[in-house]
Amino acid sequence: MTTIQVKDEWKADAKLTEDEYRDWYRISVEDPDGFWGEHGKRVDWIKPYTKVKNTSFAPGNVDIRWFEDGTLNVSANCIDRHLAMRGNQTAILWEGDDPADSRAISYRELHGEVCRMANVLLANGVRKGDRVTIYMPMIPEAAVAMLASARIGAVHSVVFGGFSPDALAGRLEGAQSSVLITADEGLRGGRKVPLKKNADRACEIAAAAGQDVRTVLVVRRTGGEVAWQDGRDVWWHEAREEVSADCPPAEMGAEDPLFILYTSGSTGKPKGVLHTSGGYLVYASMTHEYVFDYHEGDIYWCTADVGWVTGHSYIVYGPLANGATTLMFEGVPNYPDASRFWQVVDKHKVNIFYTAPTAIRALMGAGDDKVLSTSRASLRVLGSVGEPINPEAWTWYYRVVGEERCPVVDTWWQTETGGILITPLPGAIALKPGSATLPFFGVQPQLVDNEGAVIEGEGAGNLCITDSWPGQMRTVYGDHERFEQTYFSTYRDKYFTGDGARRDADGYWWITGRVDDVLNVSGHRMGTAEVESALVSHPKVSEAAVVGYPHDLKGQGIYCYVTLMEGENETEELRKELVAHVRNEIGPIASPDKIQFAPGLPKTRSGKIMRRILRKIAEDDFGALGDTSTLADPGVVEDLVEHRQNRK
Ligand code: PRX
Repeated sequence: MTTIQVKDEWKADAKLTEDEYRDWYRISVEDPDGFWGEHGKRVDWIKPYTKVKNTSFAPGNVDIRWFEDGTLNVSANCIDRHLAMRGNQTAILWEGDDPADSRAISYRELHGEVCRMANVLLANGVRKGDRVTIYMPMIPEAAVAMLASARIGAVHSVVFGGFSPDALAGRLEGAQSSVLITADEGLRGGRKVPLKKNADRACEIAAAAGQDVRTVLVVRRTGGEVAWQDGRDVWWHEAREEVSADCPPAEMGAEDPLFILYTSGSTGKPKGVLHTSGGYLVYASMTHEYVFDYHEGDIYWCTADVGWVTGHSYIVYGPLANGATTLMFEGVPNYPDASRFWQVVDKHKVNIFYTAPTAIRALMGAGDDKVLSTSRASLRVLGSVGEPINPEAWTWYYRVVGEERCPVVDTWWQTETGGILITPLPGAIALKPGSATLPFFGVQPQLVDNEGAVIEGEGAGNLCITDSWPGQMRTVYGDHERFEQTYFSTYRDKYFTGDGARRDADGYWWITGRVDDVLNVSGHRMGTAEVESALVSHPKVSEAAVVGYPHDLKGQGIYCYVTLMEGENETEELRKELVAHVRNEIGPIASPDKIQFAPGLPKTRSGKIMRRILRKIAEDDFGALGDTSTLADPGVVEDLVEHRQNRK
């Protein structure tokens, strides 16, 4: 396997040398109180903390607190503290879906907008601790809504704009949220997304389940027609005229909640991952600075959506806490054509670029000339996140996009971790294509086998983290028991990530993907159980089992085995209907790639579906089905193999 040594030019820019990284790392794990006590100061505290780390992973008593007696306001850290030094610097550089559309919002302007929205929320009865749901396109007002909520101590729950009304309703109910911020319509790749219409429907569904939405604040994006409910719906452009552009930030405890973000697990409904204020901000801002080698004045672009954690930590909180110019992109990588990313890089002289392997693979497929027709001379660091990056895509990103001038940082982390946990530091750590390399400060990864025995040295197994870091999630909103059960019960005294990994002879980490029933489709995380429950909610379906299979562009595709109700016919039309049904229930990101009608599913005598076998068949690897002797009806497997949809 190739190793790319750190180049001298990279060293010149780097924040740290390799030796310094190793020293800092050693101190961070030997003396977390000392290390984080020092680095916690990168944030402005209203009342400084005297305690640093107070965390326990012990069964029955998982309790995570950082800087617990300090107080601060996250929005003041992301805006107010920059006003004196860089009030006129661009905070948010917005690039619209249409290449002719862009906007630059200075820190001073951002302050005014955030204060106004905070005042509108207050005027509508939002108080400290209330949950504000945000269902928005990628426009600056999405960040404004998050920061406004943080300013008054409300807890935001951003729901990805691609989710269906049903999915949005479930999240409104879960968070018991009575305030929703949305837009008339979104715009992506020239197509309109009916956000207000979806929001209206979601409010109906939520109301039927007992969760009333009292206020819907609507940002005008396209000017398209929308239905209006007087007394509930409020136009942002009107409400903002009625309030002051000043709103004092609320003093919040370090452990007061900042946001909830719903994410999928291997069972049940998506859970509300809860992040708090102090530790999260320290961790997001510190990782943003060191992992991307952020320097004052850099133009930084993360292509994620604010609906995912990457958008929270690395479009909004990390960069703004560091006083950066953060680029926010409304569109898609291939509109108007597959050069768009690189055209935007040239247009705004982007220095740091952070995207997902699925986009890299798609653009690689569009041909090198789409890249080579642009300059990209401003680029200095390239990042990747969201799923394992195959060495071919890594190498293309490094060679063609970055012309071997820019280190590539493959950053591994999760919604639950709040920030990046395993990553190279540019200019300090030698790179290996496909490896997330080494842990960030304070992060102690460990490999364990299925029985929980620790694997030392070179080897592969389940990835755990043995001690807390400041950005770690604190609980599942409203269900601490589920938090403990999901993350701390598989392996005693450790946080279990749900990922598999390998450690090589140099101590480098290679993340191999989920080892549980979670899919990662184009970097979007999804529970097989969610897709199954969407399928069985169709009146013609009696049973469904969903697995992932390798997909060249998406990383993983969605393969569904569906058993129909007695008397229903297995038609092409029904197949299409089922795909549409899942899109409707969850959203387009959950579209099944393959549907196989299965008269029976492989079950053990106790009735448990043997997914291992289903996965093998989906992978077209049915020669190695393993032990099938526990199957209640071994004949089922032959039928599945014969009718498989994935023939090579
Ligand atoms: O399987 C890992 C994969 O994405 C999962 C987390 O998904 P989510 O919570 O949606 O957060 C995505 C953005 C942080 C992980 O459990 N994953 C994320 N980054 C990488 C990755 N797998 C391999 N390499 C990565 N760099």
